[in-house]
Amino acid sequence: MRTQVGIVGAGPAGLMLSHLLHLQGIDSIVLESRTRKEIEETIRAGVLEQGTVDLMNATGVGERMMAQAQFHHGIELRFNGRGHRIDMHQLTGGKNVTVYPQHEVIKDLVRARLEAGGEILFNVGQVSLHDVDTLSPKIRFRQDQDGELQEITCDFIAGCDGFHGPSRPAIPRSVRTEYDSLLPFGWLGILIEAPPSTPELIYTNHDRGFALVSTRSPQIQRLYLQVDRQDDIAHWPDDRIWSELHARLETSDNWKLIEGPIIQKGIVAMRSFVCDPMQYGRLFLAGDAAHIVPPTGAKGLNLAVADVAVLARALTEFYADGDTTRMQQYSSICLRRVWKAERFSWYMTSMLHRHSHHSAFERNIQLAELDYVTSSLAASTSLAENYVGLPMEWEPR
Ligand code: FAD
Ligand code: DHB
Repeated sequence: MRTQVGIVGAGPAGLMLSHLLHLQGIDSIVLESRTRKEIEETIRAGVLEQGTVDLMNATGVGERMMAQAQFHHGIELRFNGRGHRIDMHQLTGGKNVTVYPQHEVIKDLVRARLEAGGEILFNVGQVSLHDVDTLSPKIRFRQDQDGELQEITCDFIAGCDGFHGPSRPAIPRSVRTEYDSLLPFGWLGILIEAPPSTPELIYTNHDRGFALVSTRSPQIQRLYLQVDRQDDIAHWPDDRIWSELHARLETSDNWKLIEGPIIQKGIVAMRSFVCDPMQYGRLFLAGDAAHIVPPTGAKGLNLAVADVAVLARALTEFYADGDTTRMQQYSSICLRRVWKAERFSWYMTSMLHRHSHHSAFERNIQLAELDYVTSSLAASTSLAENYVGLPMEWEPR
């Protein structure tokens, strides 16, 4: 088999890249180790930056999102039992917080690719990358996990296979620097069948730990609790989850959290991670394969989209007239945005979570930060600008 761009991983990064390349007349094959059903049902991120929304609309995959997403104008930061609204819309000149689940983005992109005749090979196994520092890198794999060994010869490979995929290790260890910081906590996430308790997302700092109230649809809500990173979901029966959520979200004005049956629950560990460079020879890493942010800034999916917007443009310029300038700058262009998202995600995480090592002094500094960011126009504008997303480099030439 032969293609122009071999893409490993059908997450938001791989699928969006394949879609953007197709619009520029560039062929790709996407290899995915899971089934279509699995990728379309995995519950992950919920918030889209304005740039991600604009890109989906501009490239013809935004129709279902525009019909089904919820467009919020702000978020609430809650601490000391009181809510403080950050009006993102006003502070950013009209940008929104768009709540549209990642698996719906996946469905939209898979459908668009297949309808356009795109090739996505699901359920492949033993994917390995070869000759990435030559002019014809190759991907080997087995269909249906253990079928015959097959090979795709490519002009370029995009490693969009998440944190644990084979692409990043294909960059020699001596060439890449990895910046890694494991956080001592994780998030316990639940999906519930209930109407929303709030019109906008609530991020809460409480003595007992962080909690987040998000949403999926008028009937399904998404809630998170800070837990220990080693914690086991077996320690969290439903009644313990509810009593913890009520305790952390309690306000002095009788706000009520609406309960409902818990239909899904799980714990995600949190880390900050950056691989520099994001490129080696003809291999380009994008999304979680290159970097991880703690989810408090709602940046993971959006960073993946921002990377591939840069990569699609670089490849378009190469195939149009052999111009390799942007391709050579891929890593440095992406990393400028990545580090800003790392900083913002770290800032939100530090400000909102309970740190067991914090002294009373540090706890008061944290509350002062929250007081400042919710009362100062300058500070809340900075938070809003980062939350809705810094400008993306995606406009076609
Ligand atoms: P992924 O979505 O991870 O896609 C990579 C794809 O590659 C996967 O489909 C995987 O199956 C495939 N793959 C892996 N290995 C191979 C292989 N060997 N061969 C072929 N295919 C392979 N972000 C937020 O902003 N908010 C959240 O609430 C949030 N929750 C999350 C919960 C979980 C459990 C996880 C893991 C992540 C969460 N994130 C969240 C982060 C966000 O979902 C990611 O940043 C986003 O999915 C990154 O997209 P991606 O395409 O780079 O990687
Ligand atoms: C959701 C996830 C996040 O990480 C976040 O910051 C806000 C919302 C969500 O899954 O809805």
